[in-house]
Amino acid sequence: MNVFIAGGTSGIGYALARHYLQKGYDVGICGRNPEKIPENRHENLKPFRADVCDIDSIAAALNSFTTGKNSLDIFINCAGSYAEDVAGKISYEEAEEMLQTNILGTVNCFEAARKAMKGQNKGSIAVIASVSGILEYENSSLYTKTKRSVIQIADAYRRALSPFGISVTAIAPGYVDTEKLRQLNNNDLGKKPFLTDIETAVAIISEAIERKEKLIIFPIKMKWMMKSLSLLPSPLLNIIMYRKAKWMKDDRP
Ligand SMILES: NC(=O)c1ccc[n+]([C@@H]2O[C@H](COP(=O)([O-])OP(=O)(O)OC[C@H]3O[C@@H](n4cnc5c(N)ncnc54)[C@H](OP(=O)(O)O)[C@@H]3O)[C@@H](O)[C@H]2O)c1
Repeated sequence: MNVFIAGGTSGIGYALARHYLQKGYDVGICGRNPEKIPENRHENLKPFRADVCDIDSIAAALNSFTTGKNSLDIFINCAGSYAEDVAGKISYEEAEEMLQTNILGTVNCFEAARKAMKGQNKGSIAVIASVSGILEYENSSLYTKTKRSVIQIADAYRRALSPFGISVTAIAPGYVDTEKLRQLNNNDLGKKPFLTDIETAVAIISEAIERKEKLIIFPIKMKWMMKSLSLLPSPLLNIIMYRKAKWMKDDRP
């Protein structure tokens, strides 16, 4: 089996790569900084430098990886960008990076993956959104709005690709204990409810892809909390989510 992971140089993506390598698969990963990957890497791991915001670089990496192979079985896009803009302001550049990575990058990955899988009549494409993306309310953060778009984009590609044997899975995780989440929170994850460890996240994500699920939201407690919140009227949700963002930010140094 051949698996390619965009945004696979760290965090959830790299953990998924290790999972598939343990199963004996050939794995390609890409990111803007492949030098982050440890030197003593598995012989079946092929790292590439590519930016999801540049479709040519993603297509070239994927093309190099699949040359000489019969099929691309699984493509996962884990690349994502986050900045908090509910309880504070973000720069133009931070907003631009979120729009480009989370929306344009998602479309670029779907385009590159569907072209690589064309004519195979099989294959799975998955993309990491966020549990926050299942909530719809006026003042949700830019991150939430971009991740909501990811779920919608996945929906459109699922409809387009299912007649050709290609499944599309949208993943909506709650908080997953990664280096990135720790960096963003000064290594204090005390205020992150229902935190999932990375091995559990990898097991849930890989099983959802194998079962060709449309949308997986985890952990289950976070899923039900979000479903309950989504029943509230938008103005009330605006207040609750603003207070939550303030509370999370307030005692950071
Ligand atoms: N951790 C959580 O609690 C959590 C919760 C919900 C959703 N998510 C989502 O899960 C995904 C992974 O998050 P993570 O916590 O594992 O963070 P992470 O370690 O920062 O992983 C992000 C990966 O994407 C790559 N990347 C970022 N921008 C890119 C670009 N323009 N082109 C190519 N690669 C790019 C990064 O590598 P390079 O530096 O090499 O580019 C890295 O490999 C993200 O989409 C995030 O929004 C995370």
